Amino acid sequence: MKRVLITGACGQIGSELVVHLREALGKENVIATDIKKPSQFVKESDGFHYLDVLNRDELARLVVEFDVDTIFHMAAILSARGEQNPQLAYRVNMQGLMNVLEVAREKGVARVVCPSSIAAFGPDAPKENTPDDTPLNPTTMYGVTKVAGEKLMQYYFLKYALDTRSLRYPGIISSETAPGGGTTDYAVDMYVHAVKGEPYVCYIDRDTPLPFMYMPDAIRAIIELAAADSQRLKRRVYNVHAMRLTPGDIEMSIKKYLPEFQVEYRPDYRQEIAESWPHSIDDHNARTDWGWHPRYDLDAMTRDMIERLKQKHQ
Ligand code: SER
Repeated sequence: MKRVLITGACGQIGSELVVHLREALGKENVIATDIKKPSQFVKESDGFHYLDVLNRDELARLVVEFDVDTIFHMAAILSARGEQNPQLAYRVNMQGLMNVLEVAREKGVARVVCPSSIAAFGPDAPKENTPDDTPLNPTTMYGVTKVAGEKLMQYYFLKYALDTRSLRYPGIISSETAPGGGTTDYAVDMYVHAVKGEPYVCYIDRDTPLPFMYMPDAIRAIIELAAADSQRLKRRVYNVHAMRLTPGDIEMSIKKYLPEFQVEYRPDYRQEIAESWPHSIDDHNARTDWGWHPRYDLDAMTRDMIERLKQKHQ
C-alpha cells in the first residue's frame, strides 16, 4: 500500500481515514476524493479532487495520473436516506462500486477496500452474536446493496485475482465529522446535544440494542484489514464488533458526566430499520485471522466524545 485513493473522503469515516493514512503514507500518497466540499480535515489544497463515483472515466483518470495501488471506496448512501430514495441508493452504491472494481481491474490497481455493514443482515439472522456466515436477507435498499457489494467483491477476487477486502461495520460513533443519512446517527446526535446543553428527541426506542464502534477503533480496523498479510485472510468479508448499546445505555453513560441531559424517545420510520438488524456481532474470525481487537468501551468512548465535542463547540 503506497499510493491510495479514497472515495467519500469528506464523509464520517473517510474524513478521519484521510488523516490517518496521510500520517502513515505521506500526504502526497493519499488522494482524497468526494462529491461534497472538503471539510476541515480534507482541505482542497491538500490533494483533494472532486469525484462523483458514478463518473468512471474521471475515476480512471485519477487512478492513472496518481499511479494508485489501493482504493478505499467509502462513498455510499446509508440506510435511512436510502429508504427515502432507494433508486438513488442503488445507483450510487452499486454502480459506484462496480466502477471502482472495473477501474481497478483495467488499470492494475492491486487492492480495493470497501466497507460492508450490519445492514447486510435482515430480520431472520440471529440477533445476538450474529456470525459471519448466516442468512443475508436485508429489508433496506442499503442492505441489499451491501450484500450485493460483498458478493461482487468476492467475485472480482475469484475471477480477476483483485485483492478485495471488506468488513461489516456496526454503527460508528464519531466526534469529528457528523454521519449523514444513517439509522445509527442518533448516537452521535445524542452526544452533540448533550454537550451543547440541549435536550434530544431520539427517533429510536430507548431499549433497542444495536452494535456500535467508536471511530478510532473503526479507523484502526479498516487500516489493519487493508494491511493484513493476504496469507492470513481466509475470507473477503469480516464481521467486526465493539459494543452492544441501546439509546438508553448511551443516555445513562452521558448522564454520568452531564447529569442535566434529557432525552425523549419518539421512534419514527427508522425504528423498523433498527429492529431488522442484529444486536451484537460475532467477530471471532477477524480476531483470529488479522488480530482485530476493539479498544474502547462505552464509558471510555463517552469521556473522549464529550472532551472532543466540548473543544469543538466552545
Ligand atoms: N450506520 C449505518 C446506517 O445506519 C449502518 O451501516 O445506515
